[in-house]
Amino acid sequence: MTSPPLHDRRIVLVSNRGPVTFTDAADGPLRSRRGAGGLISGIGPLVKGTDTIWIAAAMTEGDRQAAATGVAEAEGFRLRMLAVDPDTYHLAYDEVSNGVLWFAHHGLWDLPRQPAFDRSWPAAWDAYRAVNHAFANAVAEVAPRRAVVLVQDYHLCLVAARLAVLRPDLDCVHFSHTPFAPPVWLAAIPTEAGRELLQGLAAHRACGFHTQQWATDFTDSARQLAGLTPTTFVAPLATDPDDIKRAAAAPACQEALATLQAKVGDRTVIARVDRLELSKNLLRGFLAFDELLRQHPEHRGEVVFVAEAYPSRPGVAAYARYRDEIERAVAEINQRWGTADWEPISLSVEDNFPAAVALMRRGDVFLVNPIRDGLNLVASEAILVNERDAVLALSAEAGAWEGLQEGALRVAPFDVAGTAGVLHEAVRMPAEERRRRAVILGGIVRAHTPAQWLANQIAAAGA
Ligand code: G6P
Repeated sequence: MTSPPLHDRRIVLVSNRGPVTFTDAADGPLRSRRGAGGLISGIGPLVKGTDTIWIAAAMTEGDRQAAATGVAEAEGFRLRMLAVDPDTYHLAYDEVSNGVLWFAHHGLWDLPRQPAFDRSWPAAWDAYRAVNHAFANAVAEVAPRRAVVLVQDYHLCLVAARLAVLRPDLDCVHFSHTPFAPPVWLAAIPTEAGRELLQGLAAHRACGFHTQQWATDFTDSARQLAGLTPTTFVAPLATDPDDIKRAAAAPACQEALATLQAKVGDRTVIARVDRLELSKNLLRGFLAFDELLRQHPEHRGEVVFVAEAYPSRPGVAAYARYRDEIERAVAEINQRWGTADWEPISLSVEDNFPAAVALMRRGDVFLVNPIRDGLNLVASEAILVNERDAVLALSAEAGAWEGLQEGALRVAPFDVAGTAGVLHEAVRMPAEERRRRAVILGGIVRAHTPAQWLANQIAAAGA
């Protein structure tokens, strides 16, 4: 295949979730469709059609069938799907990556009870290492000489250490799309595993983060827990405006907007779009809305909270429990305040991208209140497609806060009453002030491009 180069050094991109996923071929030929997530919408368009090789885990049965074909081309990507034994993959992805590392980096543990590592831990950590080594072997096999290897995220911290042995000609960079655990949280992981993780990351030429705070948390952990001084760089990912605007203009989004409009009429809409995810702090967001209605009766019947929450990681038990708690809280709040013609909260738990983008267009206030978040692209996507000068109520613990604070209202994520106060301010904000802030936010978001983010990573490899 002859494709234009992305850069004068060949690039190999390595991530757990790929840009494309395949449907099971049981009923016909393998069919591909675009994968989910910010990495794909951000850099997919840059990489597509170039000679970049993207290596990703086979996560579905269809992916496994695609994996059997070696380097393939799908949706314009040069793709290598890596199939690992399903039990090993489950331990590495659900137990270690999502059940332990995600919790450490986002501060989600319930320390009097969790984490508690039992006899099953060593096997889980071995599986994590095995998956990382399988990725390293795949890179070693397909990477052109002196290629730059861009490793993404917490699933793949041990790839570079192995590649240093297998392919010393490659330059590896790591990028974390999450925050990084400060020493006090990382120390909760069994000591040897924590040290191996940090050594694995330090084996890269540099480790990148969306904010200076996450980079500092990483270097603190590396120094205190492993005596290491790794090189870091800071490069926030940006949203590709064309990609999200195309989604907003699509007929499916038009239809979803008409449905939404029929439901909300001319009421003020507080909106949120999230994965149904513990770090996103959905529960306190609904409790803050409850408090708003209690404190300010004038908003009853006038304001509606619309939430599009798409299900995530059903393999992690804490997520299912969190979903139950959220659904119970929403039912109680609707019961308490709702009337015959007004449902205070409309919560949809399904993967409905057109509906999510329609909500981004129609929302009057966006609540983005994560406990801790690597960046949060929803905030900038909403800014790019919103048609009503929406007010952004943004957690100071989201990586996006560093860039957007000039135009956003600040939310302290644990302060439910304070969040209610911010929502009150947002709902009542005069049109002129909304406009002023929307112009600032639009300017900031449009000034950054995914291409810059990618260039920063390649530069960090010394290329
Ligand atoms: C979020 C995070 C990424 C992470 C991804 C994994 O988007 O920001 O850092 O890689 O979740 O989600 P997944 O659904 O692939 O487990």
